[in-house]
Amino acid sequence: MNTIQHTPRILVFDSGVGGLSVMREIQQRLPDCQYLYASDNAAFPYGTKSEDELIARVDKVLHALLQHIEQGYGPVDIIVVACNTASTLTLPHIRSHFTQPIVGVVPAIKPAAIHSATKLIGLLATPATVARPYTHDLIREYAGNCTVISVGSSELVHLAEQKLRGETIALEKIAAIVAPFATAPRAAELDTLVLACTHFPLLQDELRQCLPGTIQFIDSGEAIARRVAFLLHQPPPVSRTDLRHCHLALFTKATREVELLRAALSNFSLEKVDIVAC
Ligand code: DGL
Repeated sequence: MNTIQHTPRILVFDSGVGGLSVMREIQQRLPDCQYLYASDNAAFPYGTKSEDELIARVDKVLHALLQHIEQGYGPVDIIVVACNTASTLTLPHIRSHFTQPIVGVVPAIKPAAIHSATKLIGLLATPATVARPYTHDLIREYAGNCTVISVGSSELVHLAEQKLRGETIALEKIAAIVAPFATAPRAAELDTLVLACTHFPLLQDELRQCLPGTIQFIDSGEAIARRVAFLLHQPPPVSRTDLRHCHLALFTKATREVELLRAALSNFSLEKVDIVAC
């Protein structure tokens, strides 16, 4: 990447609010960047879309977002596809269509296999990510010595959205979704759970209440933050007085839900909302 003369501008993209769990990690590592968080709420959720539909959708939305951001705010320096469902399918395609470096989020199978003492690990993702050949290849390559219990749930994605809108989440629903991690053969040995959907770290507290305390959770957020910092050659060349920018949330559809998310967005320093209808 060429040296960046302005405050680095990072676009973090997901189908919904899940990517905020990744952006939080990047913000901690790189507080002096400008963050543009985009939710493709018009096409949410991604986990139930066909492969062809999702490839076309991500391509279309990213083009629309980049055009909007570049016209209104300036060039985007790096794109983070903070969605396992999209990354495990669309990365080769979008990398060939955009000039910015693109960082994808894929299931943290490799670190989980390394950390697990019992070599029995859980994979919690969307149904699409669980079924992806990309995910099966990761398991074959990095967790060949492990048994993997996989659970795919779209309902959990909706529950994370509801939580960020300030709604009360019924723990029984989460308990029912993760029940296979307690009832599968040898389940008592499970010591590591991969949260392979970016929505799920947002439900970390609720998941903890529904699973044995001995299980450690692993997600890809911190690794993504390290990768972004490496690509940007941090620290960025800015002075404090140069930080007049504001962070921005973008949605592909104006809805009542967007308004209900304002408080949660503000916790991530996203005070302004733009709608990029597409
Ligand atoms: N947050 C997304 C992921 O990491 C997907 C949620 C969805 O739209 O199904 O997979």
